[in-house]
Amino acid sequence: MRWCLVLTTALVSLAACGGGGGEPQAQTQLGDPNPGLSAAQLASFERGRALFEKRFTRAEGHGPDFNTTSCKSCHGIPVTGGSSPLYRNFILAAHDDGSTLTAPFELGQFVQRRFSHTRAIREAVTPDIEVVTQRNAPPMFGMGQLDSITSDDILANADPLDGNADGISGRANLDGTFVSRFGFKAQESSLEEFIRAPIFTHMGITSEPLSFGPQTTGLRVERQVTGDPNLPTIDADGVNDPELSFQELFDLVFYVSQLAPPAPLPLTTQSGRGQTVFGEIGCAQCHIPNIKTTGAPVNAYTDLLLHDMGPGLADGMRQGAALGSEFRTQPLWGLRHHAPYLHDGRADTIRDAIDAHGGEAAPSRTNFLTLPTSDQDALIAFLETR
Ligand code: HEC
Ligand code: HEC
Repeated sequence: MRWCLVLTTALVSLAACGGGGGEPQAQTQLGDPNPGLSAAQLASFERGRALFEKRFTRAEGHGPDFNTTSCKSCHGIPVTGGSSPLYRNFILAAHDDGSTLTAPFELGQFVQRRFSHTRAIREAVTPDIEVVTQRNAPPMFGMGQLDSITSDDILANADPLDGNADGISGRANLDGTFVSRFGFKAQESSLEEFIRAPIFTHMGITSEPLSFGPQTTGLRVERQVTGDPNLPTIDADGVNDPELSFQELFDLVFYVSQLAPPAPLPLTTQSGRGQTVFGEIGCAQCHIPNIKTTGAPVNAYTDLLLHDMGPGLADGMRQGAALGSEFRTQPLWGLRHHAPYLHDGRADTIRDAIDAHGGEAAPSRTNFLTLPTSDQDALIAFLETR
């Protein structure tokens, strides 16, 4: 099912469906919108970008607890919409009684808010908190394309019991019948939710789901709507909730969903050799170059499925169906633009990231390490063109 929303008001008439094809037009620069938007859509995209870059103030409802003042603080490298340096990592933590994870921080938060306008002392990660891990921001280019892939097209690559005995058992993180696909554990099914959550958690800006909007008659949200996350967020900072208007939320969702995928560079003899090696040593078993879709192919180098990555990467966080050692195959498009790598940013280089692969990916890591140096270099050169 694709994210698709139609908003019609006196002010604006827009139809936004998650992304077009996977291969952007050659002239698309990183941070540009998908080609082919109308003037009204471009205006919404630009308003969304301005909100994404905006540093919210206390008078506008920022806080009381927060990590940053803008989305761009974490998604700004090398351009707006990108990723973050290591020092922007946030801490994700949970109490674990063996069967259930519960939130260790106030307001049911699993994310530590490091700063506060009202507290003198930081919210602490105390020694009794069993699960403590970090997250480093991934880039957002091509989000709409990932959103546009149907659940069936993702499930076509799932092999939960490893029926074909190739050692790779991709599992879907389901939200009802919809394949959840956003976040390092594919824990979130909707881009709108992945915007309403951080704007509240990291910035203290409250909002209501678009489906609550006054324009409900003109608005369709074609996605599985499930569970609590679809409730309004509220806080007590003296500014009326919701602090973000429906129009602003719409523009932010539209912006994120229309950021064009990174454009690949042409292959050379060396990187062409690397492409062959990538397939031969088993990387493409998880990092599927083009997910075949009923729409245009999406060249994201992921299956959007969960894989056991072994004890070295395991962080104990269980999110939906994802176990403590499972992660969603990270897309490799745009890799050259956004070190550091992996869920906690521990890898400074592509080579370090490969070296950290374990679990189901251990054989392909071993294959990589036993390649002749020239083939290792070719593989890295290939990944740097994506
Ligand atoms: C404190 C740093 C930080 C801030 C601020 C932040 N993000 Fe993120 N963002 C992250 C991290 C880290 C992840 C991955 C989280 C995870 O999977 O657990 C992420 C993931 C995402 C994703 C999903 C990407 C994917 O590959 O699935 C979207 C969309 C997103 N953020 C949008 C936003 C928007 C919009 C804002 C502003 C309202 C924002 N973020 C603010 C750190 C941040
Ligand atoms: C079993 C599935 C699987 C295989 C096989 C696999 N990967 Fe991965 N890869 C993943 C997962 C899952 C992640 C995310 C792990 C994390 O964030 O901790 C990842 C992350 C990466 C990253 C970091 C991306 C980023 O933006 O942070 C790179 C680079 C990478 N893989 C390259 C490779 C290469 C090259 C190969 C072949 C040698 C390979 N992978 C084989 C599943 C796999």
